[in-house]
Amino acid sequence: MTKALPDRIGEIVPPLLARRWTVADIPDQTGITAVVTGANSGLGLRTAEALAAKGAHVVMACRNELKAATALEQVSAAATGPKPEVLPLDLADLTSVRRAADHLDVRGAPVDLLINNAGVMALPRHLRTADGFDAQFGTNHLGHYALTGRLLPALLRSPNPRVVTVSSIAAWGGMINWLDPNWRIVYLRWLAYSQSKLANLLFTAELDRRARATGTNLTAVAAHPGLSATNLYDAGAEKGTAATFAALQQRLLFALAQSDHRGALPQLYAATTPGLRGNSYCGPAFETFGYPRRTLRNPLAYSRLEARRLWELSEDLTGVSYDWPARANAREV
Ligand SMILES: NC(=O)c1ccc[n+]([C@@H]2O[C@H](COP(=O)([O-])OP(=O)(O)OC[C@H]3O[C@@H](n4cnc5c(N)ncnc54)[C@H](OP(=O)(O)O)[C@@H]3O)[C@@H](O)[C@H]2O)c1
Repeated sequence: MTKALPDRIGEIVPPLLARRWTVADIPDQTGITAVVTGANSGLGLRTAEALAAKGAHVVMACRNELKAATALEQVSAAATGPKPEVLPLDLADLTSVRRAADHLDVRGAPVDLLINNAGVMALPRHLRTADGFDAQFGTNHLGHYALTGRLLPALLRSPNPRVVTVSSIAAWGGMINWLDPNWRIVYLRWLAYSQSKLANLLFTAELDRRARATGTNLTAVAAHPGLSATNLYDAGAEKGTAATFAALQQRLLFALAQSDHRGALPQLYAATTPGLRGNSYCGPAFETFGYPRRTLRNPLAYSRLEARRLWELSEDLTGVSYDWPARANAREV
């Protein structure tokens, strides 16, 4: 129902009128190669399973070999097409990001779909990535910025490439801390998470704009899962939270949250809905739960100035510049 409506109007359709979209609505994915980051757990695992079940060749980009091996068995059991595979990737280490992208690029095959799903949330202790970035900004945004840029040649080999980046309701409370984006002066864990999730939306907007301006077919869209029961809330002792508090917090959230199967629907909808307009944002109909549809975002996420500034900062920090092809119909960005 929402599909037929003009673009922006689709975002304000009353939730009860939103169409009940489920995995059964995913079109056949035969011939599609999909890279899913953080595919060993939660929403990434459910996304990998659903795409493999529809015939896609799924590349599970994961940081933990053991967890990845177990998840691979699950995704393989669901697969109806090519055998899924694991790609070692630690987004908190730019060397690992480069290695992972090179590994795929050297094959010369297209990547049709990249799902930037992996993430960490509100880490109680201020952890840093291998390159010295705040762990949340570094993993959730900078790692995905660098991965997408390094995979650009493989993405552009596809006739219809799509990049889906997973944000969060937390982006509503986000702003970019331009003075100290890596939270070196004062670490505020929830603001750091919100910043990283707003960054996911600004990145999507700028990626989509640059893709169009350079005359490519790449579409960038974003999604959020509402509140879903996953390991994201497992802020255990190793991250600096008292075990009893973490357990209590998790139990409370899980009582309110939808399942990981349901939570994965918005990113699957964003990844597979034919003709979805660039820079669309998909989420559950009732924000924290419900079937997926296009949804509203923090108005800051529409700021072209913020998006361009974040892109330039990401370029500086990661040293990754996107190598867009020179096209006759390219316009200045
Ligand atoms: N669940 C929710 O309610 C919710 C709400 C809003 C947004 N989100 C977003 O949804 C996405 C998926 O999270 P989830 O809920 O499915 O949580 P999850 O079950 O904890 O999954 C997160 C995945 O990201 C991976 N990951 C973390 N750091 C990584 C790194 N440095 N390199 C590579 N992979 C890394 C994790 O790997 P390990 O297993 O090795 O840790 C795991 O596979 C995140 O972007 C999150 O911000 C979730």
